[in-house]
Amino acid sequence: MNPAQSIRIRDLLATQQPTAQLVTAQGWVRTKRDAKHLCFFEVNDGSSLSNIQVVFENPEDAIAAELARVQTGASVWVTGTLEPSPAKGQNVEIHGTAVEVIGEAPADSYPLQKKRHSFEYLREIAHLRPRTNTFGAVARVRNRLSFAIHRFFQERDFFYVHTPIITASDAEGAGELFRVTTLPADNPPIAEDGSVDFRRDFFGKPAFLTVSGQLNAEIYACALERVYTFGPTFRAENSNTTRHLAEFWMIEPEVAFCDIDGNMDLAEDFLKFVLRDLLSGCAEDMAFFDTRIQTGLIETLQKVVESPFRRITYTEAVEALTSSGRTFEFPVSWGSDLQSEHEKFLTEEVYGGPVIVTGYPKEIKAFYMKLNDDGKTVRGMDVLVPRLGEIIGGSEREADLATLERRIDESGLHREDYWWYLDLRRYGSVPHSGFGLGFERLIQYATGMQNIRDVIPFPRAVKSAEF
Ligand code: 4AD
Ligand code: MG
Repeated sequence: MNPAQSIRIRDLLATQQPTAQLVTAQGWVRTKRDAKHLCFFEVNDGSSLSNIQVVFENPEDAIAAELARVQTGASVWVTGTLEPSPAKGQNVEIHGTAVEVIGEAPADSYPLQKKRHSFEYLREIAHLRPRTNTFGAVARVRNRLSFAIHRFFQERDFFYVHTPIITASDAEGAGELFRVTTLPADNPPIAEDGSVDFRRDFFGKPAFLTVSGQLNAEIYACALERVYTFGPTFRAENSNTTRHLAEFWMIEPEVAFCDIDGNMDLAEDFLKFVLRDLLSGCAEDMAFFDTRIQTGLIETLQKVVESPFRRITYTEAVEALTSSGRTFEFPVSWGSDLQSEHEKFLTEEVYGGPVIVTGYPKEIKAFYMKLNDDGKTVRGMDVLVPRLGEIIGGSEREADLATLERRIDESGLHREDYWWYLDLRRYGSVPHSGFGLGFERLIQYATGMQNIRDVIPFPRAVKSAEF
């Protein structure tokens, strides 16, 4: 069993002119059908959406006995000759000469039956769902997009930096942190003022899982000029929605000597690059999503890749919403945060495609965003897309020390917690910008999958951390 020597089913299926060569395939049985003197089954090894069909004709007794153990879900090894297939939809099939069941799957208890299962049910069996068409395709798309993301940045001279997962600072200042502690939950040490004494905790102070690598990425951008992170982030947001996870992956580029316009250009080029790569590199899986999950998906993505994104200000967005005559669940006026219903309306009905919104009121955005000369708005930017709303959040960063100190105070945060961040403005400060792309939101957008829990292998969300 040497994985480097076995041929994957995707490659067998791509054989244009089979010459009855002897091949071996391995994988999991998807379906089986017995007929007189004939046994058909399909094997999938995850290398592609398609299965390879295996046919045994008039098997001798020993093989027939082994074929009886071949059931949906079993892992098998088959040897045979690769032949042209008369069946439609496949070029080749294996005419079996030997078969071995590696691991049986009893038909009466195997949870993946031939019928279509709901995504809700499949979430309960996340250890088996990658063996379905949809989840195999999601896994391959996720892999392809990861690779394309690295390629985009590497080809543009960005350095990949690893930012910490455990941190003592709240990068977003929104207080949605998971605490990391080794103190006993039932009997923690108490300080004189009656509060838990975190000085006696592992790190000697309160520590948390990171909500964003941005502040650390800024440190490296202010030394290496162009950097990006790609790692897990954590938010204890109590949002039980189809677009929020407690653990999600984020890609965060950060660029020195770059203003908000350069940041928008980067975000747009980046999204177009990875989507274009996906359309060509995962054509079979994308065709599956187009027919089974979201009709017209490929055409829509192609249009996105080819047309410029609309760029509007927050003020224009509010005007478009208030003059639309539409009644929203959350009424809009200048100063209010845009909700996902507003973001969807703007992208789906007003502009018909992705939109980049800039110039948000400072009160609804994070403390680090550069304040505009009007003293009211900041150089934040959100990239909004149809079906989802926000997919990217970013900004030009406040590079002026005094202004940043004031913004930290105004946001109810403490300067001492951000002393090193402030030092970047004290020594060789430079205009710089960056953004964060929620990786699962990108996959949702690219596949049409409705629920964010179905685009990450093991979703962590409110009241959900199985597997
Ligand atoms: O807009 P956010 O909060 O921005 C930041 O974290 C910045 N520090 C990024 C930066 O400028 N470097 O989050 C960025 C993106 C959102 O646009 C969204 O796509 C995704 O992260 N996101 C989530 N995805 C899944 N589940 C959640 N709970 C998410 N919260 C944010
Ligand atoms: Mg945001």
